[in-house]
Amino acid sequence: MTDVKIRPVTQADFDEWMRMRLALWDEEPAVMLIAEMKDMLENPLTPVFVAERGNGKLGGFLEGGVRRYAEGCDTSPVAYVEGWYVDPDLRSQRIGRRLMEAMESWAREHGFAELASDTWLENEISQKAHLALGFEECERIITYRKVLGPPKSPAPLGLSLQEWTARIHAFVRSKGWYEPESPRPQTPRNLAISLSLEANEVLEHFQWHDQPQNQDELASELADVALYLLQLASVTKIDLEQAILKKLEMNMERSWD
Ligand SMILES: CC(C)(COP(=O)(O)OP(=O)(O)OC[C@H]1O[C@@H](n2cnc3c(N)ncnc32)[C@H](O)[C@@H]1OP(=O)(O)O)[C@@H](O)C(=O)NCCC(=O)NCCS
Repeated sequence: MTDVKIRPVTQADFDEWMRMRLALWDEEPAVMLIAEMKDMLENPLTPVFVAERGNGKLGGFLEGGVRRYAEGCDTSPVAYVEGWYVDPDLRSQRIGRRLMEAMESWAREHGFAELASDTWLENEISQKAHLALGFEECERIITYRKVLGPPKSPAPLGLSLQEWTARIHAFVRSKGWYEPESPRPQTPRNLAISLSLEANEVLEHFQWHDQPQNQDELASELADVALYLLQLASVTKIDLEQAILKKLEMNMERSWD
């Protein structure tokens, strides 16, 4: 397909990139996928190339990186293909090949002598594609894990309100809820109702109690309120940060008694 353009990813691609990452790594927690994307956008050694469709949407991506060691390679560090994906409707049209060529050019320009990659044993198409693109198979490895106990709470992501909002849109879009025939139309009215319902669910935690009885469940309700609040502000084109600042300033001037 000639009108598909291969180019480096930008912040504006976040929603579409996230959609494709969710399709490739459907078992990974979304919060981890988001944290990785933020890191990749900021790190010059994690190039990401995307295939842009003629209609402005994306149709594939390749995420690259640099590893200190890669199985079967003679050099260190090594440029590495960390993720490679093409939307089903665009497959077998050489988009994957063009994404890989972009990564190869990046690796050469950055002085790497080898490009490494991996795939799953059962992913025969990916294996064939790698071989067709000039990779040679080096090793087959077995991976292990040992559970060490419950994880500590994840470190805060440090995202801005705008970044959170972009991630909410990516999630809603990935579920198809922005589509015209969606069973959950994301209209301002529906979002306002949802916001209010979730706020009422917060109250449930205090019925007959002055203190919350379950901290985790309360946290989950507050998160629902925050998510709907950010989405409602966004779809009604309200800059929530500015609105909060303005409100705080007004409150500073105001007296209550
Ligand atoms: C692997 C993947 C990225 C390839 O993308 P693609 O755009 O379909 O690949 P291309 O059309 O550029 O094909 C490149 C080569 O791969 C081989 N190939 C691609 N699809 C193939 C298929 N279904 N069967 C056999 N070989 C295939 C061809 O030899 C092709 O060479 P050619 O250009 O000389 O015909 C795509 O199939 C995909 O997204 N798969 C699901 C996600 C995945 O498995 N990613 C890889 C994880 S490591």
